[in-house]
Formats: sequence, structure tokens, C-alpha cells
Amino acid sequence: MSKKPIIVMIAAVGTLSDNKKIIGDGDKLPWHLPRDLRFFRRVTLNHTVIMGRKTYESFGKRPLPKRNNIVITRNKNYIAEGCKVCHSIEEALELSKDQEKVYVIGGGEIYKQAKEFADEVLLTEIIDENYNQNLFPLFTGTVFFPEINESEWKIVRPGKKKFLAANKFPIIKQKSKVAQRALYFRVVGYKRKKA
Ligand SMILES: NC(=O)c1ccc[n+]([C@@H]2O[C@H](COP(=O)([O-])OP(=O)(O)OC[C@H]3O[C@@H](n4cnc5c(N)ncnc54)[C@H](OP(=O)(O)O)[C@@H]3O)[C@@H](O)[C@H]2O)c1
Repeated sequence: MSKKPIIVMIAAVGTLSDNKKIIGDGDKLPWHLPRDLRFFRRVTLNHTVIMGRKTYESFGKRPLPKRNNIVITRNKNYIAEGCKVCHSIEEALELSKDQEKVYVIGGGEIYKQAKEFADEVLLTEIIDENYNQNLFPLFTGTVFFPEINESEWKIVRPGKKKFLAANKFPIIKQKSKVAQRALYFRVVGYKRKKA
């Protein structure tokens, strides 16, 4: 009998004052952080990655190399070269059932629907440490990660806060205040609590 794969949702999320987890700005990432992209690549390499059509297109309509790419769309005629195309989360998971681990890699719509199936969540939390209401945020966004509620999820990897980047952010407008600004990150792992 085949075992069910471990389903992991992986994302980079930025939090500003309202605690909403920002993941995207329109059809783009709100930041360009090569260090996080390298981490994402290392974790997902040689695994199955499941993504929404908009996230796939945000990669320039190219499959992520050395991964089994599955793209979800409602469009029955959609072609994504080098990827498997399917039409629901359930179908994407069915296509992955012989895997040990599968990664749901976004975006917002797909995370929201995949959450009920997920066993684990791996978040790179991006922290704009000196942000307050009088400063411009270092990133803004319109697409969000769903709430990870402590009654359902336990932290299994608290993550250590580390310096990520400074002063490279095109959306900064108050230049005089830029000098003290920097981004930090920590990688936090969650597991679904047993019922
Ligand atoms: N920070 C991060 O870690 C991270 C990771 C990934 C993405 N992102 C960001 O997230 C944003 C994209 O997220 P998004 O929410 O706009 O789009 P998305 O989740 O990537 O894709 C949405 C699309 O998926 C398809 N879809 C959704 N639910 C479906 C269902 N039940 N059945 C069949 N198809 C379904 C639809 O495609 P059709 O319209 O073709 O039917 C829908 O338009 C971008 O800004 C991207 O940069 C961030």
C-alpha cells in the first residue's frame, strides 16, 4: 500500500504592523532576496512543486529546473511547457501521491485552498525591523498567506533572526531614513497538531 506524501506549504512572508502576511504585490514578489531564493531552491530541489497558474507565469512561464512542476488552472486548454497541468488542488495531490514530500509553492489562492491538506508549513519571515507608521515600509503587497492559527499548528522550528539585506529597496521614498533600515529574516517551521 502506498504512503501519503507529506504536504508542505513553503512561502516567504513579510509582516508589517497589521500582522497580515504579505507574499505578493500584484503578480510579482514584493522583494528581490537572492538568499531566500537560494534557500527555496535548496529545499524544493528534486521534489514535486505545486503552483497556481499566476505563480507559474510569474516565473516567466518556465518550469523550475530539476523539480516536478504541477500547475493548477481552470483553463482546460492551458499548456505549460515542461509542467503537468491540472485543474484542482485535489488533482494535483493525486498526481503526487507516489512522492515522499510535495511542496505547495503558492500563490495566495493556492495556499488558501491547500491549507486544509497541508501537514507542514515552512515560512521565511521577512522582518522590517524598524518599520513604524512614520516610515515608508520596505515592502508592500496585495497578496497574502492564510492565517496559521496556533490552535491548529505547532512551531517545530522557531528559527533564529538573521540579517538579510539593507538599502536595496526601490520602493523606499524617504531616503534620509533609509540608513537605519534593514531587513531581517527567520525560517519558521510549523506542523499540524494531531486532532
Ligand atoms: N512570497 C512567496 O513565497 C510567494 C510564492 C508564490 C507566489 N507568490 C506571489 O503570489 C502572487 C500570485 O498569487 P495569486 O493568489 O494571485 O495566484 P496563484 O495562486 O499563483 O494562481 C491563481 C490561479 O490558480 C488557478 N486556480 C486557483 N484555484 C483553482 C482551483 N480551485 N481550480 C483550478 N484552478 C485554480 C487559477 O488559474 P486560471 O486563472 O488560469 O484559471 C487562478 O487564477 C504573485 O504576486 C506571486 O509573486 C509569492
